[in-house]
Amino acid sequence: MEDAIVLTYEVSPDDFTRAGEASSDVKSKLKQMGVSPEAVRKVAIAMYEGEINMVIHAKGGEITVSITPEQITMVLADVGPGIPDVELAMKAGYSTAPDEIRSLGFGAGMGLPNMKKYTDEMNIDTTVGVGTTITMVVKL
Ligand SMILES: Nc1ncnc2c1ncn2[C@@H]1O[C@H](COP(=O)(O)OP(=O)(O)OP(=O)(O)O)[C@@H](O)[C@H]1O
Ligand SMILES: [Mg+2]
Repeated sequence: MEDAIVLTYEVSPDDFTRAGEASSDVKSKLKQMGVSPEAVRKVAIAMYEGEINMVIHAKGGEITVSITPEQITMVLADVGPGIPDVELAMKAGYSTAPDEIRSLGFGAGMGLPNMKKYTDEMNIDTTVGVGTTITMVVKL
């Protein structure tokens, strides 16, 4: 990864006005770099879902995006509550989002399944009470 371009973002907690800023910045930078529209779309969708999850379910966190000619790697790290049952959380339709979050249009339980669907590799490293780090790779 010597020649990787690395972008880092702070995701602020509970700030819906700014949620999605990091993924839209990555989207426009990848477009400028001439990355294929298909790969840009996958990265934008997967990263947006992960970013929103950090705002809704954790206390924000940090996102690092590494770009090489071979792949785009996204690492989303938070110090939120962790995910007690990853297999259950990955199920389409499963959500713990409270009513006030659902009234904003979130909470369909489709974020994690879509992150999996739109990436070539996805790994969830989570510990209850410590936090969650999700690593996703889109191959170019
Ligand atoms: N970073 C995280 N920290 C703690 N829990 C999380 C995190 N990301 C997801 N979860 C848990 O996994 C569940 C499923 O996440 P998923 O993104 O699929 O659905 P959602 O965020 O509830 O709804 P949607 O993404 O459709 O708006 C969440 O409801 C939450 O309980
Ligand atoms: Mg979600």
